[in-house]
Amino acid sequence: MKAELEQLKIEAFQLLNRAQDSSAVDALEIDLLGRRGKLSTLLARIPELPVEERSGIGTLASSIRKELQDAIVAKRGQFSAPTSQSLDFDPTWPGHSPSIGHLHPVTAFLERSADFFASLGYTIADGPEVETATNNFDRLNIPANHPARDLWDTYYLNPARAGLLLRTHTSPVQVRYMDSHKPPVYIISPGRVYRHEATDASHDTNFTQLEGLAIDRDLHLTDLLGTLEAFLKHTFGKVKVQVRPSFFPFVEPGVELHMSCLLCGGKGCSACKQTGWLEMLGAGMVHPTVLKNMHVDPAKFSGFAFGIGVERMTMLLHGIPDVRLLLSGDQRFLEQFHY
Ligand code: PHE
Repeated sequence: MKAELEQLKIEAFQLLNRAQDSSAVDALEIDLLGRRGKLSTLLARIPELPVEERSGIGTLASSIRKELQDAIVAKRGQFSAPTSQSLDFDPTWPGHSPSIGHLHPVTAFLERSADFFASLGYTIADGPEVETATNNFDRLNIPANHPARDLWDTYYLNPARAGLLLRTHTSPVQVRYMDSHKPPVYIISPGRVYRHEATDASHDTNFTQLEGLAIDRDLHLTDLLGTLEAFLKHTFGKVKVQVRPSFFPFVEPGVELHMSCLLCGGKGCSACKQTGWLEMLGAGMVHPTVLKNMHVDPAKFSGFAFGIGVERMTMLLHGIPDVRLLLSGDQRFLEQFHY
């Protein structure tokens, strides 16, 4: 009987190897392992065997049954398409899309603005965030002890070197640049500035300005206003703008541009301090004293300058109600600004 079982196993494997499709495997399974299959038929004869021949037959038969069953399952697998059960992962499960970073809304705004000014022929000038008091104030016509310094309260570095501070505006880049350039110049200078402020929805201690400086023959206030109007149209499309006279020691005359608050539609909200208007930038014709400090002859050249509040414009552009969100690093906020 043992020999017959071994023989059955050999033949079964040969037949299984030759099977061409899964229905052949099914038929073979019934023929070999079915209730009236070859194995059962063989085993049905056990009671007829002499007692001494019976031992070990049961164990051998069940190990052969197991081997055949495994071989049948494997063979069937060759014919069937992979299914979720035969793979250890589910190929229909949606994948994890990699999260792709994007520009911070302030950076995106700066890049768009730089493109615009580049189209007018402006180049980009850079300057340090740690400035000398001379560049930040004195050369911009704000002498020590002048009350105008109160407008730009800032952080001084290391009292022993009292001349260094965190720049309060990007205007010192104007004088730095003119130390090594001659008119005509058309530059913009984007960068971070610092002020000692009580923070609120529209003020932070740390923000971004986009400075502009043009020095050429026969530049007038109308050139300044035309440039700014073109910029605001480029950025916002149609907006209501007010030009108000203002005082900055480094320009004469000086103006402020206010835009109607797009956050509340001009009705008044916390961002515009209930006035319906937001101050967006300071500007003016470069003061003759400052031109002289820049080694430029005010009799031959004139110039205009502007300093744009980048966060405020970004807020209006996207309807962001609080400037502090921009530096919060909160991904739930930032992820809304895919461009
Ligand atoms: N530097 C000024 C400020 O920070 C803005 C400004 C720039 C005004 C250039 C006039 C000309 O408030």
